Amino acid sequence: MQNPVSDGLYEVPIAVPQLEPIPPRVPGRLVKIGERTLSTRFTLAPLAGYTNLPFRLVMRRLGGLGMATTDLISARALIQGGGKTLELAETCPEDEPLAMQIFGSEPDVMVHAAKWCQDHGAHIVDINMGCPVNKVTKGGGGSAMMCQPTNTVGLVEKVVGAVSIPVTVKMRLGWDDTELTAPFFSREFEKVGVAAITIHGRTREQGFRGGVNEEGIRRVVEAVEKIPVFGNGDVRTIQDAARMFKDTGCAGIAIGRGGLMHPWIFKRLSLWDETGDPGPHPTYRERLEFMDSHFQSMLSLRTERSACINFRKVATWYCKVLRPGKKIQQELVMIQSAEHFANMVGRIAEILSQREEKGEWHPAEHEIRLPEGPIAHW
Ligand SMILES: Cc1cc2nc3c(=O)[nH]c(=O)nc-3n(C[C@H](O)[C@H](O)[C@H](O)COP(=O)(O)O)c2cc1C
Repeated sequence: MQNPVSDGLYEVPIAVPQLEPIPPRVPGRLVKIGERTLSTRFTLAPLAGYTNLPFRLVMRRLGGLGMATTDLISARALIQGGGKTLELAETCPEDEPLAMQIFGSEPDVMVHAAKWCQDHGAHIVDINMGCPVNKVTKGGGGSAMMCQPTNTVGLVEKVVGAVSIPVTVKMRLGWDDTELTAPFFSREFEKVGVAAITIHGRTREQGFRGGVNEEGIRRVVEAVEKIPVFGNGDVRTIQDAARMFKDTGCAGIAIGRGGLMHPWIFKRLSLWDETGDPGPHPTYRERLEFMDSHFQSMLSLRTERSACINFRKVATWYCKVLRPGKKIQQELVMIQSAEHFANMVGRIAEILSQREEKGEWHPAEHEIRLPEGPIAHW
């Protein structure tokens, strides 16, 4: 099916989504991590390069977010204190609850880094065991940890023992399909005091290909006794979330790319979870206002130059949704200054006002795609 309203700006027609009915809410309790009860069952999964403080703050202001996580941070770099690394761990009182995610394979370094996180505003320390990128796995970190059961459980136990805040683990189902080790690890981690698990329902070998293995996530849920398990992978609509809850029995859901594409997803999911009605999708104008607040958030925390450079990275995401036309997109990805940005917002608002009749934006209009650029191999 093709979009019946064509503004002539696009060569490729945009598919009109199949609007599935809103499913009934899937009963469940609020999730506790350690002593802290999260306000909703939905958390923002880390997306290196995107889930930085300016983005987390605007997401939190929209509502519905139970918890957010930093991008993954090298434990070694953190304790060496490089400026770029410290920026990854930047936080503030409004940024709560926050999990700082660290990776590394040396127990002492991980312990040191976890303590650093505790002393610098983290409410939770999350250990990354899911990253498939060679740079991380060749040092024995990320998903490579899933090949070293004894060392890995020992490392996690040391980290748990070293801090008073909860320690959580985010991982994939296993290295490859031959053996899904996540249920084993989850059980062992619970025994040594880990407070929650987030499980991306793919293996390391899969990367981001193929579907999410809900059965694999269910096995992790069944492997633990008490701690909450967050199901993760490809959730971007209420229907996806309902399926994730029903098929896996998970306590909560972590959402990454769906949150970038559709920041309102947390608010809609939490409303649905409370009342059964997720409320309306945002209008295009609200989407534009969100883009503006995202840039303003960058501007308030960074220099103007850095805000512009960082915004360029996310400009394409916004253009996919707002569809302002190629010319504006080309300019937005090269944004030069705050004044230039304000001018672009005005021009996009003008375009949107000419096509008000298009109404609400629906997330199913867009496939979940990986961002381009140096981190595209995630
Ligand atoms: C660009 C990008 C960066 C990511 N960075 C991280 C990271 O820093 N730490 C991590 O544990 N997972 C990371 N992931 C994995 C996501 O957190 C998540 O597990 C995965 O994208 C599947 O969930 P989703 O379909 O909701 O995005 C990243 C994924 C992408 C696409």
